[in-house]
This record gives sequence, structure tokens and C-alpha cells, in this order.
Amino acid sequence: MSTASISFPQDFLWGAATAAHQIEGNNVNSDWWVREHSPHNGLKEPSGDACDSYTRFAEDIAILAKSGLKVYRFSIEWARIEPEEDFWSRAQLLHYRAMIDECLRQGIEPMVTLNHLTLPRWFAAKGGWRSPESTKYFSRYVSKVLPILHGIHWVCTINEPNMVSLTHGGAEGSNMTASALPQPDPVISEALIRAHRAARELLSSIDGLKSGWSIAAQAFHAMPGCEREMLEYQYPREDLFWQASQGDDYIGVQAYLRTYIGKDGPLPVADGVEKTLTGWEYFPEALGIAVRHGWEVSGHTPLFVTENGIATDDDSRRIDYTTEALKGLREAMRDGISVLGYLHWSLLDNYEWGSYSPTFGLVAVDPMTFARQPKPSLSWLGAIAKSGRVEI
Ligand code: NOJ
Repeated sequence: MSTASISFPQDFLWGAATAAHQIEGNNVNSDWWVREHSPHNGLKEPSGDACDSYTRFAEDIAILAKSGLKVYRFSIEWARIEPEEDFWSRAQLLHYRAMIDECLRQGIEPMVTLNHLTLPRWFAAKGGWRSPESTKYFSRYVSKVLPILHGIHWVCTINEPNMVSLTHGGAEGSNMTASALPQPDPVISEALIRAHRAARELLSSIDGLKSGWSIAAQAFHAMPGCEREMLEYQYPREDLFWQASQGDDYIGVQAYLRTYIGKDGPLPVADGVEKTLTGWEYFPEALGIAVRHGWEVSGHTPLFVTENGIATDDDSRRIDYTTEALKGLREAMRDGISVLGYLHWSLLDNYEWGSYSPTFGLVAVDPMTFARQPKPSLSWLGAIAKSGRVEI
């Protein structure tokens, strides 16, 4: 029995996150769908029906609301809203407004991500973020979405731009482990920063709306004598994006793992170390370390943990991991770092970019019936949201 506990501030925002392509199903106009159905794509399986959340979103929101969590971060799908260049689906816009309204009706604060790793196939065919006109296309999409965002307090423009640049806009690599990834593409990095700033400007026309984007952060650790190599490695993959976020209302932090940097770059996870189902080192301290780093590099911009979690089929390990992550987060806050909330990745077991095997969910989903089965970790996190207290 644990006897000690830590408390979070009363107004701290607790919730869970998902992303359209990973849960909706049949996102047929997206670049990822095209990729999933191309030969030799290197993926274990296609997304298919995913969790059928396109039709079951009200049930998902109800599960979240019943647990005690207060925020639902989900993404809206550009490929559905603009399935062909400059052809806009009114029905899809209304669909996403219905999701927002359902959140509000159930007392849930929605956080809307405008772009979560997938692109309309027509835009990808033009080069995606490499297209010289990418800012124009993204801004046009954001202006079409603005009318459905009234009453919204939290918007994330682009999810993990640094990961997008590293995976060359989604065209390569499903293995998000640092050691398996290529170089970031400076053209894509610059395009994403431009697109984010243009979106921020458009979003500032809505009263009470706070905008930011979410950085894929890690606990980077230099091997002895490799501090310079680490900084050189880290700058284009992370720090450039932290710095570019200065002036945002908040910055989303997404942290899961630690990467050791040696003379020749990242090292594979050492033998004998506990690994999660994504092959990442079990390292819950990553969150606290990432938050401290982001706070410094972004010039003290308020932070919001927009993702953190673990792929495991042992739900008690999910609770252990999250407890440790929250401890590190609270210590960083005690040291004066402004953190507005914590959103767990993910509400549902879902499509982890090529495979359904790494299960990150607080809720299991039956692949045949789509029946939702909450795991003990959901009520555990919901109780924390209600009391603001974590037993340690
Ligand atoms: C990062 C991404 O935003 C999300 O799509 C992914 O599933 C999780 N983290 C876990 O890898």
C-alpha cells in the first residue's frame, strides 16, 4: 500500500488524446491510406476500419467523461475536409463541429489538432510540405475550418512537426525510434514553421482561443565526451522547433523515451533494459526531463503535455509508468515551470502507424465488434483528474 501522494493545482487540465487517422477508419483520401495500400510499404497492416470512431465518437467522449477526465484532444482530418484540391466538404466540417458540440454537451473541453501526421493525397502528390505553396494550402484549409472553431479554447495547429520533418512528411519510416530515422529535411522544417505561424495568425481572430503546436520531445542523453554531438543532433530535431514556438500561447510536449547519443549519433537500446511494445526503453523520467528542456529552450513559454503514455499489454505497467511520469512532471512544476495540463496517449488502443500491436490505450477496442472495454488505468487516471492527487 502506498501512503504518500502528490497534488496538482486545482485548475490543472487532465485528459486523453487520439488522432483521426489512428481511430476513425477508412481515411481513404489521405496519403497514409495510399501508402498502406501500396506494395512493399514495409507496414505490418493497414488501418482499415481502425476503431470506427468516425461513427462512434459520442460513445468515446462518453467513456472519457464518465471516467472523470476533462479534456479530449482529437484531430480533424484535412483529407476529409478537402478531399480534392479546393473542393470542400460541408458535411465533414459539420461532422467535426458535431464532435466539438458533443464534447461541450458532455462537459468535456475539446482540444482540436488541425493536422496530425496525415495529408490529403492530392497535397502529398504535389510534394506535401516540400511544395513551395504548402503555406498557401494549409492556410486556406485553416480559414475554412475557422467557422467551426467558435467556443473552442485549445487548438494544436500541427502535431509533431519535428517528427514530420524527420520522416520526410510521412513518406518514409513507420518506426519512430530515433536510431532508425534519417535526417530532418530543412525545407520541410521551414515550411512547417511558416505554416504554423500563418495558422496562429488566423486563429488569433477567435476570442478566447489559445493556439500552439506539439513537439515530439525526448530525454536526450550524451555519452561521456559526446556533449557536442548531442547538441548537433538535437538542434534540427527538436530545439529549432522549441525556439520557433516562442510567442505561442502554449507549447505541447509529447515525451515517451530516452535516446543516448554517442560519437556517431543515437545508440540502440542496450540489452537487458526493459522495453515497451514499441521497442522504446521504459523510461518514465523522460517527461520531466523533456519539460525542463522545453521550458528553457522556448524562453519560458507555458507548456501543456499533449501526449505521454506507454505501449504495453500489462495495464499495471501503464499505471506504474504514468505515476513516475507525473512525479517528474510535478517536480518540474515545483521548480517554477508552467505546465497547464496532462493528456494521456491514448484514450483507445489504436493504429500505431503500421500496426495495431503496440497498445497505448486506456480503453481496449475489440477489432471484430469495435466494443470498447475500459482498462483499470482509465478509472485510475480519472480518479486523479477528480482529486488532483496521485498516490506514489
Ligand atoms: C506520437 C504521435 O503523435 C502519435 O500519433 C503516436 O501514436 C504516439 N506518439 C505514439 O507513438
